[in-house]
Amino acid sequence: MGNNAAEKINLSFKGKDILSLDQFSIKDINLVLKITEKMKDITRDTKPSKILEGTIIALIFYEPSSRTFGSFSVSVKKLGGQTLEILDPQHFSSVSKGETLEDTIRVFEAYCDAIILRHPQKGAMEAAAKAAFFIPVINAGDGIGEHPSQTLLDIATINEKHGHLDGLTGVIAGDLLNGRTVHSLIKGLSLFKNNTLYLLSPKELNLSREEFSNFSQRDIKLIEIQNEKDIPQNADFWYWTRIQKERFHDIQKYEQVKNKFIVTKELVTKFAGKNTIIMHPLPRVGEIKPEVDMDPRAVYLKSQIRNGMYVRMALLALVLGKI
Ligand code: CP
Repeated sequence: MGNNAAEKINLSFKGKDILSLDQFSIKDINLVLKITEKMKDITRDTKPSKILEGTIIALIFYEPSSRTFGSFSVSVKKLGGQTLEILDPQHFSSVSKGETLEDTIRVFEAYCDAIILRHPQKGAMEAAAKAAFFIPVINAGDGIGEHPSQTLLDIATINEKHGHLDGLTGVIAGDLLNGRTVHSLIKGLSLFKNNTLYLLSPKELNLSREEFSNFSQRDIKLIEIQNEKDIPQNADFWYWTRIQKERFHDIQKYEQVKNKFIVTKELVTKFAGKNTIIMHPLPRVGEIKPEVDMDPRAVYLKSQIRNGMYVRMALLALVLGKI
């Protein structure tokens, strides 16, 4: 909010913008995980929750979304709140007449208690959070920047399966250059001790050298690989991601790299262990074969999806100071 955008959380979520994993400590993440468990109970309760009763949350999505939009929208409603939903504001709001992001945010903060924003430009979140003087802004994905609520749900999913967030070996594959979920996840896992990540991508889609250098200075071991044969045996998790066609200026370059690494039954048999969980933030466009879906280790269409709702319920209750 205002000039305090992206400040550290320090266990005090109320009123804070949620823009980046850089705001979080281990304690902050553990608090989200604890409240997430409470939210699982709330969704099982037959009595409707009133935690967000009387609040209206704006969901403003300049880029398409299924999971982030759907799960935030449902989360508000599960907790007794209401939503104001503006999908594609470039066509269905006064953004189409040239209204700026800042003015748009100021208008909707007059009506609502928090704004959940997705935007195609990295850096737009900070501008939006500064523009909102009175209410928090939650980053629902900013271009190739970050996607903090996705990382919280990814971390909740890893923790649910393995019971710890340190000493992990993971494989992160796909579009690491443009993948905002990857950027936030690396930051999140680097808070915990002794984690090692194998980064599998076509050379063109490696992390930017700036990001690789930044992340390498954190407490995490990063190993870049460009061949499936270098995937470690029995990793704790695989985190596959989509090659993001919409980030390419030259469609031929996209065609050259789009199907480079595909999770098949064969790949799983060759490299995964019995406890390796297979994750994907979704959507997938061919990089995990449907034949893998029913493997008990594949969580991308199962617990990883449901955790998106529980975690976002927790995050909303915390940011709005209702828990
Ligand atoms: N994982 C994710 O951000 O999916 P959506 O783009 O559908 O929200």
